[in-house]
Amino acid sequence: MSDPTDTPPEATTEAKAGDGNIARQVGRRRTFAIISHPDAGKTTLTEKLLLFGGAIQMAGTVKARKSGRHATSDWLEVEKQRGISVASSVMQFTYGDCVINLLDTPGHQDFSEDTYRVLTAVDAAVMVVDAAKGVEAQTIKLLEVCRLRNTPIITFINKMDREVRDPLEVLDEIESVLKIHCAPVTWPIGMGKRFVGVYHLLNDEVMRFTPGEERADGEVEILRGAEIDRLRATCSQEFDQMRDETELVKGAGASFHLEDFLKGKQSPVFFGSGINNFGVREILQALIDWAPPPQPREAIVGNLGANGESRMVAPDEANFTGFVFKIQANMDPNHRDRIAFFRVCSGEYTPGMKVKHRRTGKEMKIANAVVFMANERSRMDDAFAGDIIGIHNHGQLQIGDVLTESEMLTYKGIPYFAPDLFSRARLRDPLKSKQLNKGLRELGEEGAIQVFAPLVDSTLLLGAVGQLQFEVVEHRLKAEYGVDAVFERAGIHTARWVTCDNAAHLAEFVKAQQQRLARDVDENLVYLADNRVNLSLAMERWPRVKFHNTREHGQTL
Ligand code: G4P
Repeated sequence: MSDPTDTPPEATTEAKAGDGNIARQVGRRRTFAIISHPDAGKTTLTEKLLLFGGAIQMAGTVKARKSGRHATSDWLEVEKQRGISVASSVMQFTYGDCVINLLDTPGHQDFSEDTYRVLTAVDAAVMVVDAAKGVEAQTIKLLEVCRLRNTPIITFINKMDREVRDPLEVLDEIESVLKIHCAPVTWPIGMGKRFVGVYHLLNDEVMRFTPGEERADGEVEILRGAEIDRLRATCSQEFDQMRDETELVKGAGASFHLEDFLKGKQSPVFFGSGINNFGVREILQALIDWAPPPQPREAIVGNLGANGESRMVAPDEANFTGFVFKIQANMDPNHRDRIAFFRVCSGEYTPGMKVKHRRTGKEMKIANAVVFMANERSRMDDAFAGDIIGIHNHGQLQIGDVLTESEMLTYKGIPYFAPDLFSRARLRDPLKSKQLNKGLRELGEEGAIQVFAPLVDSTLLLGAVGQLQFEVVEHRLKAEYGVDAVFERAGIHTARWVTCDNAAHLAEFVKAQQQRLARDVDENLVYLADNRVNLSLAMERWPRVKFHNTREHGQTL
């Protein structure tokens, strides 16, 4: 831990290099998420990574926590025991000399906004593809988000123990649909009942798969030279096919280049079977060897808003900074405290440290941050860039909020997306309208749903990306705020945040369109369009007004 006198509170706004320890600690960090379409094997892979990383002792620990993927009722039941989902949202463990932070992303597509935000907090991602199904809808969406920040992606093609699709075809599909070059690192020898193992293209080794004899620590038998020839004699057809395919792959120039991977242009590809512990250690090794440690992040310095100057904040700067990317209500409904998931971007966290809350300008003491070990919550003693700390608060912290030791800055790239679904909450008991508004505002700040206050109507409008969000909010309103409300579909097609560089023109627009305007949680002006035609007419009629389909968290437009 560094000497507290290294970072005086009156540090200037200029970047100040941290001590060597910060740089060393940052270099050890790997922070990533696993992305996949439901059922491809994300939970299984997570569990095996934790098992081999020594973070859990027994398979089944994570699986037991997995929220119901299909039934709403299951999901709500699990979500009620909120402590569980809090604990499994971030998992930290050490592997070799590295400190690995694995961030969970919600499996259900209705919570994709939450997933997008989690992806803003990682430095790399592992993409799991079901070898029988290839690229699926949710993977396409998630990869688009990764591309926004050029996040490096490691690909794991799973379920090779089954009769699956031709591996060349799957790779082709990844390249054409996801628009990312593939660099196979391992290549399957056979599949299903005839799955013999994988050939490691870089090491010229065969990793042997022996069904039913997999080791609990994920180690596999490695064959070289004459040992490979002996195995080939027993399954020449599978070997010949592998040779032909790898020749083709090599001929196509798809060899691995670290720089292309780090730029998010090329993905190293591994084949395996998560459930059989096969190919999982190679993913961990790739994370350690190739995935980047925390990188510099762009931040706007000084005043809030898009016009401030920006600079890259290096992870080993002495000044502690970071941002909130997720808020989760805590498990105890009697104390409405929340946990803010905070990604450290620079400096060092130490218990009890004083920081400034960028949005409000107030000073805060972070005394009780928690680190999320795989199966328990424990007090955090220190944290560095790449680490996620959980900060208890009573609603002071919102998504996108920055905490900083000295320099005032705002991190970019934590978006709100224009919702596709809109509802109005109708109270069964009209006397509860105050509680309803309070509940909706708080849930809106938490990011569970987007809340809009129409300019000419007092009924709050709710916007969501997925239907399940409404159901969760309805449930939480009842459980946490004692409000019995039903949601009715509102006849709105989409929303756009509006800005205009001319105040008089904007005022004219607001006057003419007030029936269709609302304010979001941060008081930004939003245009609610009944249909597509209505939106394009408004855009045509008011050419100086800008209509945005995303906006950044913590930023007033
Ligand atoms: P998800 O989190 O991406 O939704 O997927 P999950 O890990 O839950 O895996 C989905 C299903 O695929 C599970 O079967 C799991 O056992 C299976 N699976 C995962 N990896 C492999 C693999 O390498 N080979 C094979 N053959 N199957 C695999 P399930 O029947 O839904 O659940 P369970 O009864 O097995 O727990």
